[in-house]
Amino acid sequence: MTGLDARLGRLLEGRKDKNRFRSLKEYDTSPESNLVDFSSNDYLSLTSSSSLRQSYLSRLSSTTSIFGSTGSRLLSGCTPSHSSLEKRFQEFFNSPSALLFNSGWDANVSFFSTVPQSTDWVIFDELVHASVHSGLRASRVPLDRRIPFDHNDPQSLEDVLKRITSQGSSTDKSTVFVAMESLYSMDGDFSPLPSLLDTLERFVPRERQCVVVDEAHSTGVYGEQGRGIVHALGEEASENRRGKGRVDIRLMTFGKAVGCSGAVLLCSPTVRSFLINFARPLIFSTALPHSTIIALECVWDVLQSEEGDQRRLSLMSLSSYVHSLLDQLLSRIPPAVLHLPPDPIIPFPQNSSVLPSKPGSPILGLLTPTPHALSAFLLDRGFIVRPVVPPTVPPGGERVRICLRAGMEKTVIKRLVDTLGQWAEMKLDDEKQVRAKL
Ligand SMILES: Cc1ncc(COP(=O)(O)O)c(C=O)c1O
Repeated sequence: MTGLDARLGRLLEGRKDKNRFRSLKEYDTSPESNLVDFSSNDYLSLTSSSSLRQSYLSRLSSTTSIFGSTGSRLLSGCTPSHSSLEKRFQEFFNSPSALLFNSGWDANVSFFSTVPQSTDWVIFDELVHASVHSGLRASRVPLDRRIPFDHNDPQSLEDVLKRITSQGSSTDKSTVFVAMESLYSMDGDFSPLPSLLDTLERFVPRERQCVVVDEAHSTGVYGEQGRGIVHALGEEASENRRGKGRVDIRLMTFGKAVGCSGAVLLCSPTVRSFLINFARPLIFSTALPHSTIIALECVWDVLQSEEGDQRRLSLMSLSSYVHSLLDQLLSRIPPAVLHLPPDPIIPFPQNSSVLPSKPGSPILGLLTPTPHALSAFLLDRGFIVRPVVPPTVPPGGERVRICLRAGMEKTVIKRLVDTLGQWAEMKLDDEKQVRAKL
């Protein structure tokens, strides 16, 4: 073992001591494995759609360029198919402009490391994705101008805004960036977007705002044909303003419900040009391969078809089903054993035509002090449910993360919830025995 290996080994031992050690685990999720995957972000079950598979294979066989793009977007990787897909997204999402990235990670890092300048403020929901933090760390924004607000809490946002606006002069030209997600990946709760935007509007003039919403977990799932939550609320900034248009930047990613990989950042033509000039992950990395561009075109044909609507409806129905089962189960179990995060505020206006007043979330963050033990118990019984521990979630937020997919059977969901009930009863019995011995 080299000196370096020995030193790294000691650091890894430290992680193990803190129960934070990560390793790669391979699961066979083929039909023969008898394991049901409740951990994948394939919310619409598109990766197993036979019609999508057929259209993808047939398009691949009739297209000349199907392999790598052979260069960054600034070199040979800017092909007519890349530009045409960007144009499709620009129109579909009603955005002034669109820019493809190789991943949502790259898009967030690119944006937050380059666009906010040293005199700007960046305010962010405390639970925003790690990629936003990585971008900010590489940015020119000083640490004391990057401020979190409590998760989904308009009052906390107001407190932060009061603090920063009291520091600025009336001639202050700095931009106030606000970063949030439409649907949070670990708690599975929605942002109360309209209230947060109303709060921002009360403190910061529109020309000084830049609101950034990450729709990684809502792309394809919510809104008309899967255009996302911001679009469903009419909050997207666009040339043909439909609603209030207060969200300047949207990130739509392709690795989750879309079943591919990559991302598109929806922004103004100037931000797009700025990123093309300064975003290192875009400038110095090979652009998405042709095979992915073709897959994305095929996926969008599905999202815009009746099959897309059926998949979205099925997911919503499964989500309200699992919530009703879990509500019954959790009403009988002490929260110290198992509980869901508090029910979120109803985030959407009642009259929204494309969003139900309480849309179902396909993500459940089931809190438990012993997520590894629960995950192993469930795996023994045929369910893949992954534990999530700090630093991915804050200390005390240990959980198992359960994700639904549109193609799941209700009977399988019922079996999972019954198994969760067995585990909770076993835990309660263990506790009783410990108490009896005292
Ligand atoms: C909220 C959010 N943003 C961005 C990303 C990064 O997206 P990608 O997987 O495309 O890199 C993720 C992925 O986990 C995410 O959950």
